[in-house]
Amino acid sequence: MARITVIGGGYVGLVTSACFAGLGHQARCLESDAAKVDSLRSGAMPIQEPGLAEMWARHSESGNLSITADPAEALSLTSFIYIAVGTPESPDGSADLSYLREAVHTAQHYSDLSRIVCIKSTVPPGTCAGLQSDLNKDARPEDRWTVVSNPEFLSQGRAVQDFMNPDRIVVGSSDAGISQMVAGLYFPLDAPIVSVDSAAAETVKYASNSFLALKISFINEISRLCEHTGTDIGQVATGVGLDSRIGPRFLEAGIGWGGSCFPKDTAALEHFMRSAGLESQVVSAARAVNRGQVEHIADQLVRMVGAGFGKEIAMLGLTFKDGTDDLRGSQVLPLINRLSADGFSIRVFDPSRPVLRNESLPPVTVCDSPQEALFGASGAVLATAWPELVSLDYASARHLMREPVLIDARRALDPGKLKALGYRYARPGDGRTAPHLAQRPELTGTLSAA
Ligand SMILES: NC(=O)c1ccc[n+]([C@@H]2O[C@H](COP(=O)([O-])OP(=O)(O)OC[C@H]3O[C@@H](n4cnc5c(N)ncnc54)[C@H](O)[C@@H]3O)[C@@H](O)[C@H]2O)c1
Repeated sequence: MARITVIGGGYVGLVTSACFAGLGHQARCLESDAAKVDSLRSGAMPIQEPGLAEMWARHSESGNLSITADPAEALSLTSFIYIAVGTPESPDGSADLSYLREAVHTAQHYSDLSRIVCIKSTVPPGTCAGLQSDLNKDARPEDRWTVVSNPEFLSQGRAVQDFMNPDRIVVGSSDAGISQMVAGLYFPLDAPIVSVDSAAAETVKYASNSFLALKISFINEISRLCEHTGTDIGQVATGVGLDSRIGPRFLEAGIGWGGSCFPKDTAALEHFMRSAGLESQVVSAARAVNRGQVEHIADQLVRMVGAGFGKEIAMLGLTFKDGTDDLRGSQVLPLINRLSADGFSIRVFDPSRPVLRNESLPPVTVCDSPQEALFGASGAVLATAWPELVSLDYASARHLMREPVLIDARRALDPGKLKALGYRYARPGDGRTAPHLAQRPELTGTLSAA
């Protein structure tokens, strides 16, 4: 059992603290936002993440898990310091490392025992090495710090499950002994340990996220071809994904990728490579396709509903995916902006009731139920595949709407059923559900005799 302090109590920090406690360690979380600390201490989980609240309650009760805003309390007599603070996108696209530097400074100032800092935050290659040399600038030999890159690959909405069942654990440090100690913290999880240097570990994280993003962008690009030829991307993706060299996951066409990681991490990689005088053509193309997908869905809706002025659109879902209350990087936000700029009024319902703070959104009507959002609407978009929105009673919902136009931006509904209910239904990548979109060419593929 080790004593671990996790600095940062957000999506990653809370899950890391709870899961380390679950693995039998003494975990303490240091969170600077006093409201979050109070909320957790009073038994309320400030974020929505399946299984996390129960896990937190269980381990706090057993004494293995605690949270505080007091750095001295959090960092005294600890063995490993984990940093899981945000690394958001700066205006120029680079990763903003100011929270990270502040957290490292706190560790340096308050830690009375540990000299091992593990970075869970996603940071550009070279960051850990730079932090380590800064920390060691005036350190006595017996006080030398080691900064280890130990990136996190969890996915929001299934974060606890992902942490406890990782595909791999990546540990980056040139100190083999310390790498082994860090890998040992995950015992008895059954996953390959990838022990590399810190720059390689940092690069693995950016490359993984960028690759997943480009897989989605690629299938969205092919989905435009399917609309053109009057076929369905679902059938194509099945055929492609069964190739074991490719695999079926992240081959789902739809609204495009979003969230708190892919947009900022692809931007940071693009920025990092540009600053190094390198080109990032593939990643940049994936980002461009993703921006275009929002426009594509909006165009599809406008074609079906007609010009916007005075018309209302029901937006079913707002978060970047179901199972989370996180709005960061949600593709639904630019979709709303575009439709609003076209003159539509937007009525939104999201089951997680996310709090609208600094999202750059035009005025929208936030509704308490999907029915309220749909009432009088000239069109609706299923924008996030929440189970309760997928299983909505679309038969009665149809009668609430002024015009039964439905875009299934997540491809989560059964087109046949929706059409039978009288909807004018379309979904990205399906040339059969939007025949007006498929400017079907004569399919003149020829087998020319050689
Ligand atoms: N969210 C994900 O799915 C995910 C997955 C893998 C990796 N990551 C990476 O992990 C990092 C954290 O992401 P997140 O989504 O948990 O961020 P977040 O914004 O949800 O949480 C960060 C938390 O750190 C706190 N904080 C900031 N500075 C602090 C300090 N000096 N002391 C104490 N607390 C401090 C903030 O108040 C906030 O609660 C990012 O680098 C992200 O890219 C995120």
